[in-house]
Amino acid sequence: MKTPHKRLLFILCGIMVVGFIYFSSRKLRLVWGLKPQRDPAETTVGLTKGAEVKRITELGTDIPVGRIVGPVYDEQGFLLKLDKKLPPEWVNKYGNLSEGVCKPGYAAAKMTAIYPKFMNPAPMFLDRNFFKTPSKLLSKVSKYLPPFGFRTQERVIDSILSATKNYGLGAALDSLSCKRCVILGNGGVLLNKSLGPRIDDYDVVVRLNEAPVSGYVKDVGTKTTIRITYPEGAMQKPEKYDKDSLFVLSAFKPLDFKWLKQMVFKEKLRGTEGFWKSVARNVLQEPNEIRILNPYFIQEAAFQFIGLPSNNGLMGKGNIPTLGTVAITMALHNCDEVAVAGFSYNMNTPNALLHYYNKTVKMSAVKESWTHNIAKEKEFLRKLVKANVITDLTNGI
Ligand SMILES: *[C@@H]1O[C@H](CO)[C@@H](O)[C@H](O)[C@H]1NC(C)=O
Ligand SMILES: *[C@@H]1O[C@H](CO)[C@@H](O)[C@H](O)[C@H]1NC(C)=O
Repeated sequence: MKTPHKRLLFILCGIMVVGFIYFSSRKLRLVWGLKPQRDPAETTVGLTKGAEVKRITELGTDIPVGRIVGPVYDEQGFLLKLDKKLPPEWVNKYGNLSEGVCKPGYAAAKMTAIYPKFMNPAPMFLDRNFFKTPSKLLSKVSKYLPPFGFRTQERVIDSILSATKNYGLGAALDSLSCKRCVILGNGGVLLNKSLGPRIDDYDVVVRLNEAPVSGYVKDVGTKTTIRITYPEGAMQKPEKYDKDSLFVLSAFKPLDFKWLKQMVFKEKLRGTEGFWKSVARNVLQEPNEIRILNPYFIQEAAFQFIGLPSNNGLMGKGNIPTLGTVAITMALHNCDEVAVAGFSYNMNTPNALLHYYNKTVKMSAVKESWTHNIAKEKEFLRKLVKANVITDLTNGI
């Protein structure tokens, strides 16, 4: 049996051993510190400054002169010093291409240069192979609930995908060796800039939610390659849908997948209690023109790029990226060049129009949001613009 004072002795012994090591090491350090290990330059300083010799020498041994002190990357893993220059190894690859010619792999390469963790590729849409073949990426999205993954929705998704049967952009675009994409945010900043023809020039034009084309062609163009939306954001007047465009669901909650299934199978909509506002009751596109956006982009934008709280992988206060940033994230993985237009976060112009298609809602209507963190999102997008990963056609970011 251990007596209390045996234990005390044992503890005391420990303290003495530690104490001995501590004191002797200090002595040793003092001895070492006095050893003349200086180089001639330090000796010179010592001679002129007399009493300060010792301090300078100690400093010299603790902090080697000329070493880079301080972080190179920010919290999210982005390079702190961003510029638009091309890394030398690409000057040859892209430098000779004339202005306006698509640069293969440019967006991903520039992204990797400022964010070494960037992982390419990630398919744009869910497909049955991606869904059934375990991969690193799949394990990420299959573990999370919507919006960051699709756990619990596998059967609904499988049923949707077995009806749509198509999982790409279409033969012509999929076979392009270099794709230039433009993402249209819906900001009032698009007005009166006559960017329409320039937008139509891109291979892939991405529009969001109910952003109209007719009536605004001069400023927003005529072409829609894909329209990404969720039930509450989708156009409720089907006749306004763009012909020849893909209807893409970005699901934010389990109910969104169930909604899409009813749309694909042209069923009468039921079970609308879980939506936060009225939703579209039908989608004109045929099943083969309907896609599901890979939820990986929501996860990556939120937790890696913007740095929103992970909340154990569940939807929570301020951890949902806006659809615009999700679409940009998708493009970084799937387009060789990425441009954006209609993104604006300028709160200094409270009277500017928030959306190009609504003459009554002003910038000042933007409220603190429960779901989004606009300030952090803006920071992320600014990095992309500053490093020329994306081109901002309306200079609003
Ligand atoms: C670009 O131009 C330089 C100098 O004219 C040349 O050495 C290089 O091979 C060219 N690169 C490509 C990819 O054509
Ligand atoms: C755009 O131009 C129209 C017609 O010239 C004008 O009434 C409107 O105020 C302009 N809008 C913006 C946002 O500049």
